[in-house]
Amino acid sequence: MLENIPALQDEVRALARERDALILAHNYQLPEIQDVADYVGDSLGLSQRAARAERETIAFCGVHFMAETASILCPEKRVLIPDLDAGCSLAESITAAQLRAWKVSHPGAIVVMYVNTTAAVKAETDYCCTSANAVKVVQHIYREHGDDAEILFGPDMFLGAYVERVTGRSMHVWDGECHVHAGIRPDDIAAVRAAHPGADFLIHPECGCSTSVMEYVAAGDISSEGVHMLSTGGMLRYARERSRAAKESARDTAVVATETGMLHGLRAAAPQIDFVAANEAAHCRYMKLITLPKLRDSLRDAVHEVKVPQAIAARARVPIERMVAIS
Ligand code: 13P
Ligand code: SF4
Repeated sequence: MLENIPALQDEVRALARERDALILAHNYQLPEIQDVADYVGDSLGLSQRAARAERETIAFCGVHFMAETASILCPEKRVLIPDLDAGCSLAESITAAQLRAWKVSHPGAIVVMYVNTTAAVKAETDYCCTSANAVKVVQHIYREHGDDAEILFGPDMFLGAYVERVTGRSMHVWDGECHVHAGIRPDDIAAVRAAHPGADFLIHPECGCSTSVMEYVAAGDISSEGVHMLSTGGMLRYARERSRAAKESARDTAVVATETGMLHGLRAAAPQIDFVAANEAAHCRYMKLITLPKLRDSLRDAVHEVKVPQAIAARARVPIERMVAIS
């Protein structure tokens, strides 16, 4: 049955007002969810926005670890997620027990974990990072702890490889991956390069193609000027800046290597640019579990609450706050 989207959006807005709820949505959410949200952003922006939320309730349209992060930062607020099954394959790639064992084999090492992890993993972590600030966080650690600091970085191996390349130092990197981004392969980049010569590349550092794109740049096969390794929020800033400078710019196509939900925000921010997906199949089924009827039900019935147990939340807050302070 086709839902009446404008009517559902009106219902959601009215319920949000009634329940004093702030609607947060990740950049990969369905267009109709993004359009009804109070704030749409990347993982970092969503954590920062949650941290200063003034409403009683946060309706989190994203995946479970993101709602957990909001609950950790705002323990006094009610954090709702419209579907509890909205998980993340990357967050599942490391457990707290695995991280504890890794730490035992590297005593004294500093643990940097991507925010795409469970609260229990964050509780074992020294610093969190997102794709927007991973390099900054790791550089901060080298400044504070010296160039020889031993770092355990996880769980995303492609983001880890990107950070190593930018900082020029090696870390111990967990071999986890996001199935959606890992599926964007070097062959996809070769095909879109051939179809769109001269296009800019917006690459999420979690992508399976990110290492090869950096190699193309290093070899001079792709101009470094046109390659941008960005978080989803960084991609939106690129679109807004390019939109403002559109008249001066010769390029009119940008290839987007990330989950395809990103295209909605990019096209709205810069309608004159032709945004092309590097891989049309890059679809996160977890993000897409959040629908307008489920958001409406969640606000109406005050379900499903995400609450991190106090003992874990207290420890998990430390690396998140360190990250937010550095960003
Ligand atoms: P961003 O932090 O860039 O929004 O990425 C989150 C995510 O889940 C990537 O798949
Ligand atoms: Fe997790 Fe990947 Fe989905 Fe992002 S796109 S939420 S990392 S499974």
